[in-house]
Amino acid sequence: MLAALFRCAMPTTCVVGILWGDEGKGKVIDYLAADADFVVRFGGGHNAGHTLVLPDSLPTAGKIVLHLVPSGIVREHTVNIIGNGVVVDPLHLCREIAMVQERGIPVELGRNLLISERAHVILAAHRRQDAWGEQVRSSGRIGTTGRGIGPAYSDRCARVGLRMGDLIRPDNLRRALQGIAEQKNAWFGPVGLESIDVEQQFAELSEAGERLRAGIVDAGAVLRRARNDGRRILMEGAQGCLLDLEQGTYPFVTSSHASTGGSFSGTGLPPHAMRTIGIVKAYATRVGEGPFPTELHGEVGERLRKAGNEYGSTTGRPRRCGWFDTVAVRYSGAVSGADELVLTNLDVLQGFDTLRLAVAYRLPDGSLTEQFPAFDLERVEPVFEDLPGFTENLREVRRFEDLPANARAYVQAIEQRTGLQARTISVGPGRDQVIKR
Ligand code: IMP
Repeated sequence: MLAALFRCAMPTTCVVGILWGDEGKGKVIDYLAADADFVVRFGGGHNAGHTLVLPDSLPTAGKIVLHLVPSGIVREHTVNIIGNGVVVDPLHLCREIAMVQERGIPVELGRNLLISERAHVILAAHRRQDAWGEQVRSSGRIGTTGRGIGPAYSDRCARVGLRMGDLIRPDNLRRALQGIAEQKNAWFGPVGLESIDVEQQFAELSEAGERLRAGIVDAGAVLRRARNDGRRILMEGAQGCLLDLEQGTYPFVTSSHASTGGSFSGTGLPPHAMRTIGIVKAYATRVGEGPFPTELHGEVGERLRKAGNEYGSTTGRPRRCGWFDTVAVRYSGAVSGADELVLTNLDVLQGFDTLRLAVAYRLPDGSLTEQFPAFDLERVEPVFEDLPGFTENLREVRRFEDLPANARAYVQAIEQRTGLQARTISVGPGRDQVIKR
């Protein structure tokens, strides 16, 4: 069903999370990958957690959570690429590949999994720096996943980073590690952080490099060739537009370009016509710190968390839950260039008497705005439109016309307020629990 979406699409399709991640991108990518030749991660690292539920008919049935390996890996014919915009913890990647293989899913480096030689490496030192950064920020902490993402991207910008191609070039690796150790050890010791042991890191990373060697390639060249040959490429966004370093709720963002823009710089593909599908839940969630205008603190929020099983798939942290925010979705839709929405978790809203949509914000000076502000988001008050809820279970519904009238009206109000059509609606975690319009 969802796959048909892709078949009629341009050869390149980008899937991005519209708010703060966790919108259910894994399931959507899994569907679309049925018709894709390539699935490409273009940003983030193993801070992401993409959950797939494979059907009972497969020997690999059940839930699988991927962090770094693209979601197309569960499809036999798909080539999966970790693009240059991703930051890779090589030790984690080796473990994740082993985990996927243990599930009976074939992973062959050089065949169905390629890693850009330009992708930057996350070191153990970056994880220590991440934890330390959060500690010294105290009340201003971001609530990172603690995976070393920010420090690895900072080193990339500071031009002291290590790239995946360095892991299989011993001279480069040693030289780069010595340079990084010189810089970091000068301040790690004084602030009480464990220093970098160059020899130990060299041994560990060379070993990981050997294990990954067959997959470390010029992935941009592979993709450009594929595109020229008319192959179908699916860009798998990680996190969401409001966690984008530049367009998101700065500074409570991740350190990569999580919106569509990152799909070009993060892969080496040129910005020709590309179709963008925005994934958004039928309500809003956020993990970590930062402003969240429609957040629910009381019993309703807790009920939403339980109904939607809203716990982080990477860190297990309870997700903050709130009502659907059409101001934020309209903004992210514009920033990402989304051509349509996939609305996920509509089934989770079963049994709520009233469903609320934020349609504007009241600013601290009392005025109203429908624009998503770059500052003072924590001080805005959402203005809601209330709609009646539905009591029916939606999990078996497969046609929009068969949805209860109140559920249909809720979806239509979202479309009207955001200007984006929800062409696909997900009503459960399984591959087939989808309504296609
Ligand atoms: P970092 O990416 O670990 O530096 O974390 C920065 C912010 O992004 C924190 O608020 C995290 O909770 C959030 N974050 C990072 N990755 C994800 C994700 O995949 N889903 C949801 N939130 C994420």
